[in-house]
Amino acid sequence: MTQRAYVIDQMISAKSIAARIESLAREIAVEFQGTDKLVVVGLLRGSFVFIADLVRELDLPVEVDFLEVSSYGDAMESSREVRVLKDLRGKIEGRDVLVVEDIVDTGHTLAHVSKFLKNRSPARLRTIALLDKPSRREVDFAADWIGFSIPDEFVVGYGIDYAQRNRNLPFIGKVRFTEG
Ligand code: IMP
Ligand code: MG
Repeated sequence: MTQRAYVIDQMISAKSIAARIESLAREIAVEFQGTDKLVVVGLLRGSFVFIADLVRELDLPVEVDFLEVSSYGDAMESSREVRVLKDLRGKIEGRDVLVVEDIVDTGHTLAHVSKFLKNRSPARLRTIALLDKPSRREVDFAADWIGFSIPDEFVVGYGIDYAQRNRNLPFIGKVRFTEG
């Protein structure tokens, strides 16, 4: 399949993201105050930039782990079927867990991951997503914290890809097709 030509229009600047993360980290630190050790679980691969910035703003003892679930492949549509491709390395039973995701779109991914991890009896399980597209929701799911609520646009940057590209952009931009 050949890629359609597109340009990327900036939607959220690197500066706005950094400011939002600072304030989210303060809220999270309040929620998990006194925790023994928070396990911050990043969903691969889209959350890798977000989790890196978020944990550095968190004034708490943290452990970092990763979970990889099946995703879009190179398409722009959710498969709606979520499979675990790479499980956590550590145990979360009785632990405080924060799941970090890039985007909540249809909601299938985070709903499934939450259920999957709750089965392991963590003490507390909370979720955070940098972006939320509420108009696209197909299952009843709300993250505990959201960075930005955005309209139904396909976005890239700050860890988020389109066909594996553009993850290294420091800002969030929307994909605009220029032909086809
Ligand atoms: P959901 O299961 O439909 O909520 O999909 C969530 C996943 O879809 C996210 O983790 C992203 O990887 C991917 N996704 C949703 N919207 C976008 C987008 O605009 N750009 C890139 N990936 C997206
Ligand atoms: Mg993803």
